[in-house]
Order: sequence, then structure tokens, then C-alpha cells
Amino acid sequence: MTSLPDPADLVRPDNGQAAHLIHVIDAKSHETWLAGQPGRVRAALAAQGFKPTGYAYAILPGEDDEDWSVVTAVADRAALSSWCLAKLAEVLPEGTYRLGEGEPGRAALGWMLGQYRFDRYKSDTKAKGARVLLTARPAGIDAVASEARATFLVRDMVNTPTADMGPGDIEAAAEQIAKRHGAAFSVTRGDALETGYPMIHAVGRAADRANAPRLIEIVWGREDPPRIAIVGKGVCFDSGGLDIKPASGMRLMKKDMGGAAHALALADLVMTRNLPVRLHCLVPAVENAISGNAFRPGDILKSRKGLSVEIGNTDAEGRLILGDALTRAGEETPELIIDFATLTGAARVALGPDLPATFANDDAVAQALEKAGTAVDDPIWRLPLWQPYHELFKSDVADLNNSGESGFAGAITAGLFLEKFVPAEAKWVHFDTFAWRPTARPGRPKGGDALGLRAAYTFLSERYGV
Ligand code: BES
Ligand code: ZN
Ligand code: ZN
Repeated sequence: MTSLPDPADLVRPDNGQAAHLIHVIDAKSHETWLAGQPGRVRAALAAQGFKPTGYAYAILPGEDDEDWSVVTAVADRAALSSWCLAKLAEVLPEGTYRLGEGEPGRAALGWMLGQYRFDRYKSDTKAKGARVLLTARPAGIDAVASEARATFLVRDMVNTPTADMGPGDIEAAAEQIAKRHGAAFSVTRGDALETGYPMIHAVGRAADRANAPRLIEIVWGREDPPRIAIVGKGVCFDSGGLDIKPASGMRLMKKDMGGAAHALALADLVMTRNLPVRLHCLVPAVENAISGNAFRPGDILKSRKGLSVEIGNTDAEGRLILGDALTRAGEETPELIIDFATLTGAARVALGPDLPATFANDDAVAQALEKAGTAVDDPIWRLPLWQPYHELFKSDVADLNNSGESGFAGAITAGLFLEKFVPAEAKWVHFDTFAWRPTARPGRPKGGDALGLRAAYTFLSERYGV
């Protein structure tokens, strides 16, 4: 089992306990700082080739064996980013640390996230001890720890292979979250989906009974408005269906439930921080599998909304299950709907792995979201719901087609498809996110990751926070 530290134990109140100092310098302050250091420190820096750039760091000898300290370079000492201490949290030996001057602020998040590991399947689970950072202002740490915990949840869920993260496991994870917050929890499963949620049923019906499709719902909070809905694509494995993916395209598809992980983590944050809203979280969880009863190219599905959908490609399954879930979300007349999905390869071609594509039917919401993302080092990039591209997924025989023939504007046509199932009165934001880091960055190991989660949470807390 993963031996993860609780983020709240990694940044603790400073009661004057023994700790190694971390000197934080930037290009501007480097020379002055260096001039004030004893000869042994200057020699150690020269020997380690320390330069005041990037995430550079060096260990500095003290007067006694035990009082060594650390120096690290940041872009601007006066405005620490979320990631500027993350490298240190990864590489320093276990122990207790404090900043030479100032407070970690947002950098506390990177300190926590840098200590994530996924060792559930490793035989040698000798846990690396915690690196604890002291803070004289512990007041804000709870909120940061909640964000770190939510990020750990996304990482764990996405990293877990499908055999242990099928629709039933997503249901169990959701139930655990709902129980913790005293929220109402319900699941529509298997054949029971056939009438009310025909697209979720069609996509998930080829899977083994144990991995039967389901729509998972959590309801929490006050009776009266504002009502919000959070929806996540839970495709536990995306083989592509009968339009099977090539091996290279299938290799990472355990992560196709990344949207569900983001939705559950965001719902958990909303409940943990007690935002004054009525929350409806919906996760359609399926496996896009292949068998004799799989849905086929050319099939025409009736959706919950009533629109008929021709299947141009069984690999465009995410928009189908989300279509029915968004319809259900709209029935509760939320003022805001947010969905997360690892929806298209096209969004990755356009923006790469780091930037979730966002789509919104309201400019003010889009701007507030973008501002929130920038403020918390969780950037997003808006793409347009370009209405003329509806013609790219017209169907000759049904109301619409689930895939465009041309391949043009794949992320936009997927967004436009979803928009068909969103009530016009609701403000709506769609995240097309990768949920994965192909290469490690400080605080962000290779593997499953939350991308857009903190932007969304910060936006929500600014919109509804008290
Ligand atoms: N889950 C994939 C999208 C995906 C692929 C996300 C790779 C991240 C990395 C989705 O279900 C899919 O296969 N989409 C197709 C849609 C197409 C058939 C219209 C795509 O993007 O190619
Ligand atoms: Zn697919
Ligand atoms: Zn998919």
C-alpha cells in the first residue's frame, strides 16, 4: 500500500525547534548574500558549482556537524511560486527545516506535493522519512493541505492500473468521500441504465459484469441555491472499443478516468472547505471494452436528452457518457456546471500536456477562471466554442454524430457536442485535461496529476466563498 505522508504533517508551526535553515536567494540578492557568508560556505558553493538560477540548491556546512544549512535559488524572493521549494522537498534528507527569512506562503504547496510517491506495487516500501517545513504563520496551512490532499487523490486514482481502478473502485472511492462528509450517495448500475442513461449504458455494456457501467451521484450541502454541478469522465480503460486504438495509443488509457478523479477531488475540496453551495457531483464510470455486445460504428443511440446520436467512432466515447451525465446535472437547474474529461487527443496536440483546454459559455466565468489559475500556478487556456463547427459533426441519419469525419478542430467539436447537453440557462465550463505528466517537474512527478483542479477550486472559492 502507498505510504503517503499526510500533507498537514509536512508543514508545521514553528515553536523554535531545532531545524536546518533554508536560505532563499534570487539573482538580485545573490552577491550581497554571498559576501556575508563565511569562507567555508563560499568554498562549499564554489565546489558544488552553485549558480543562482532555476531550482539550483546547495548544502552549506555550519560550525558544527549538525548545523548544516541549504541555499536555493528562486526567480523572485519577494513572490515565492508554488514550486520554488518543491525540488528541495524531494531531495533533502528527512528532517526539519525553516526558511532563513520570510514565510513559505504558496510554496508550502510544492513542499507538500514534492513528497508524493506512488509505491503501492513496489516490494521495497521502505518509506523515505518526511521533510518538515516550519512556519511561523500556520493559519493558512489547512487550506493548502486540503489542496495537496485533493491532488494526492487524483494522482493515486490515475496511477492505479485499471484492474484496481475499475468502475466499482471509482464507486468505492466516491462513496468514501460522500460518507466522510455526510453527503447523499446513489448509484445507477448496469441494466438499470438502459432506459434513463442509454449512452452510458451503450458505452459500458461490453465490459465484464464486475466492471458494469454506472452513474455515481453525490449530493451535499444546503437546500437552497446556489446549486452547482461537477461532472467527470470516468472511462476506466479506453481500448477505443471496436474502433480499437493502436498499442501506442492504448498504453496510457488507464488514465482515461482522470476527469472522474478531478471531479471527485474538487467535490471533496468543496465539502472539506464547506463552501456555501448545494453540490451535485456526477461521475459516469465505464470501461470502453470490446466484446460481442459492444456498441458499433454506425449504431444510433438515443440519449437521455432525447437527441439521437450516430456513432461515427466508438473511440469518441467520453462525450457520450458525459452527454447523459450533463443532461442529468441540468435537471437540478444548477447555476454552474463544471466538467473534467481526458476528452481528446486534439487538445493535447494544440496545448501539450501542461495546459488543460477550457471551454466556457460565459466570458466573465472564463476570465475569472483564468485569473484564478494564474494566481495559483495552475494555468489553463481557453479555446472557443466556435458555433460554425457544428457542421463538422452533422449526421445524415441522426441528430448528430459523435465524431467529425475531417478530424479538424477535434477539441472544439468535442466541446460543442457536450454543449448540446448543457441547459442554456446554466453557466458551464468544460476542462479537456491530460491528467498526466509525461516528464517530472519539481513537485510534479511523472505519472497521474491534477491539472486544472486548483484553478477550478480557487475560482469556486472566490465565487462562493464567505
Ligand atoms: N480518451 C481519448 C482521448 C485522449 C487520447 C486523451 C490520448 C488523452 C490522450 C478519447 O476517448 C478519444 O479516443 N478521443 C478521440 C476522438 C476521435 C475518435 C473523434 C481522439 O481524440 O482521437
Ligand atoms: Zn476514446
Ligand atoms: Zn476516452
